[in-house]
Amino acid sequence: MFDKIAKSYDLLNHLLSFGIDKRWRKKAVNILQQNNPAKVLDVATGTGDFAFSISMSGVAEVVGVDLSEEMINVAKSKFKQHYSDKNIIFKLADAEKLPFDDNVFDAATVAFGVRNYENLEIGLKELYRVIKPGGKTVIIEFSKPKHFPFRNIYHLYFKYFVPFIGGIISKDKKAYRYLYHSVDNFPYGNNFIVKLDKAGFNNNKSIPLTFGIASIYLANKS
Ligand SMILES: C[S@@+](CC[C@H](N)C(=O)[O-])C[C@H]1O[C@@H](n2cnc3c(N)ncnc32)[C@H](O)[C@@H]1O
Repeated sequence: MFDKIAKSYDLLNHLLSFGIDKRWRKKAVNILQQNNPAKVLDVATGTGDFAFSISMSGVAEVVGVDLSEEMINVAKSKFKQHYSDKNIIFKLADAEKLPFDDNVFDAATVAFGVRNYENLEIGLKELYRVIKPGGKTVIIEFSKPKHFPFRNIYHLYFKYFVPFIGGIISKDKKAYRYLYHSVDNFPYGNNFIVKLDKAGFNNNKSIPLTFGIASIYLANKS
């Protein structure tokens, strides 16, 4: 599915979020930077925007992995055009079977990716496995606003408007219908914190963004 929408992904991403996604990524990068990580893994990196922001913030080495070859191809071509002086590597890899040894990254990140995992528990355990003790994982994911009227507006926007516009621009309405269902079924907030605890992380917390439309999750490996 992500192969099919790779070429229109960036445009739709920024258009449908009114550019707010850039602010969310920036906030997550600032949180990540509090530990000054030197080597960061960005899982489900897609077209690479989060990996590029992390690298631009001064991280010495960034590795971006994704399951979709077309998304990775877009990331690689953006790298060649705009970021070739940066130390970023993009690789095709499954988040649920990461091709890295244990304890190799100072931090790991996932932006709008964990919602798509086939097996969330395994994906979170993999993140835990590859970061060093003392390392941090920063995850951004959609959540659901709790209060009126944002909850209702959000529901209508995701259920009807996003598939309509997404379908016209990407020619794949199904992919943008899937977005609504994946957000609707995702265990956000405290339920996600429980999943992080189970994967082995500790001191986990969630920070709601923009009326709770999305959240940043911080998870630590002691
Ligand atoms: C909504 S995009 C997010 C891309 C990017 N992180 C961003 O912030 O724009 C979700 C990405 O997750 C990837 N993905 C889904 N399941 C995956 C898995 N098991 N392993 C690696 N990547 C996966 C998809 O291929 C897609 O590129």
